[in-house]
Amino acid sequence: FVHQLADARVPLDALLVSPFNLQGDPGLPLPAALYGPARPNSASVDLACLADREPLYATARDTAVPTVPEADAAAVDAAMQRLHAGFARWDATPVAGRGAALRRAAEALEARRAEFCGLLVREARKVMADAVAEVREAVDFLRYYAAEAEQRFAPLALPGPTGESNELRLRGRGVFVCISPWNFPLAIFTGQVAAALVAGNSVAAKPAEQTPAVAQRMVALLHGCGVPEDALQLLHGPGETVGAALVRDARCAGVAFTGSTEVAKAIQRSLADKDGPIVPLIAETGGINAMLVDSTALPEQVVDAVIQSAFRSAGQRCSALRLLCLHVHIADAVLRMLAGAMQELVVGDPLQRSTDVGPVIDAQAHAALARHVARLDAQARLVARTPLPAGLAGDHLAPVAYEVRDIAEVREEVFGPVLHVVRWGSGELATPEAVIDRVNALGYGLTLGVQTRIEGRALQVAQRARVGNVYVNRNMIGAVVGVQPFGGEGLSGTGPKAGGPHYLLRFASEQTLTINT
Ligand code: SER
Repeated sequence: FVHQLADARVPLDALLVSPFNLQGDPGLPLPAALYGPARPNSASVDLACLADREPLYATARDTAVPTVPEADAAAVDAAMQRLHAGFARWDATPVAGRGAALRRAAEALEARRAEFCGLLVREARKVMADAVAEVREAVDFLRYYAAEAEQRFAPLALPGPTGESNELRLRGRGVFVCISPWNFPLAIFTGQVAAALVAGNSVAAKPAEQTPAVAQRMVALLHGCGVPEDALQLLHGPGETVGAALVRDARCAGVAFTGSTEVAKAIQRSLADKDGPIVPLIAETGGINAMLVDSTALPEQVVDAVIQSAFRSAGQRCSALRLLCLHVHIADAVLRMLAGAMQELVVGDPLQRSTDVGPVIDAQAHAALARHVARLDAQARLVARTPLPAGLAGDHLAPVAYEVRDIAEVREEVFGPVLHVVRWGSGELATPEAVIDRVNALGYGLTLGVQTRIEGRALQVAQRARVGNVYVNRNMIGAVVGVQPFGGEGLSGTGPKAGGPHYLLRFASEQTLTINT
């Protein structure tokens, strides 16, 4: 129906429902016409995925994950040398040329979506819905940053009283090191690299150890679309060796990192001590993300948002819900409904169409999560646990929710399908302000959900909360490039926000050119 409307060129605002409300289901990509020709992002319409996913599953079943050789110290040095030498030429390429390479890459990625979805399912253990959404997000990043650069990197004339010609110009900083995580091995990898490249930097890209093949395929695609090898090199290997060597290299002129807070701080220390220029760090880390639910919230909407936010992608999103704060008047009703909904979730093999929740990324992650769950089993009240099918092999963790006594008991980010619940509305947690203050005190600041029908409350809460993304009366995952810039503050990151209008600026240096005419 939505596609018929688009074919008939029905304008977006003639629809009763915003298409953005539908993006919660990544299986429903929308026609470009709905977004209007001027919007650079979300044009990665994937009607084939909507109509029939079988070809995607068939490709995924046939996909083998290639091994990628690890870089040693000599390879890191050689790559940095090459990128250092290649920087000036790439930076001198007009921004339209750099943007055009990104746009070609977006088209190529769309055309090869099945292959990339297959790799995401096999290497990153994604369910197909998440794989489709991730390819779409990567395409969006490529188009959005190309458009942003073309608009913002045009020299800015600053006429004034000096009688001279004054111009502010943006350009690359040098070799940018991009270190990306396994949970979005295509979208975050591509977003960082595309931003750094289009700003004029040459790029040393270091993907997570768990997911090098997706990154390698994407780098090959970018090279094939006109990004010179002297401007982009992939270096695979452990963060402790390869990542550490890249960020302490004197030729490193900037770092974009997405991963843990602990590693972000280690990189910051290393950058402070290294030879060479003073280097900016763009860090996007984790969060202990809360959802505040007051007594006026709609229980059905709350439960739907909780299921999506806490358990989709096996909870392996930095935006995922970790701490559900329920008002006492509504808590029992919501928890009963949540327990019912959790019984319906299907945990299983991502190659099965019925699977809602796949395995976690590896055995090590599974063991750490299992230890946390065992602690909660001893210390907290079990609300519900999704049943695991008999005989299911692999690193599956059943989605689980526990009620804890106090917000302070949730001190660390638990990166999996584990939800902590607290009640508020009395004692030290009598008011929403008290809840938000306690959540702020955890030190993280990525996403916050608010469920309320009290006019004005959402804005008051958003004002008080020290977080980067606030979602009201909906789920709190899946930020859309270009319209929901994503990133946090405090222990959750440095900003600027990915997919937002200020992101590219941190990748660039500024030059004022004054000519006495
Ligand atoms: N950007 C992702 C989201 O919004 C998380 O990394 O869910």
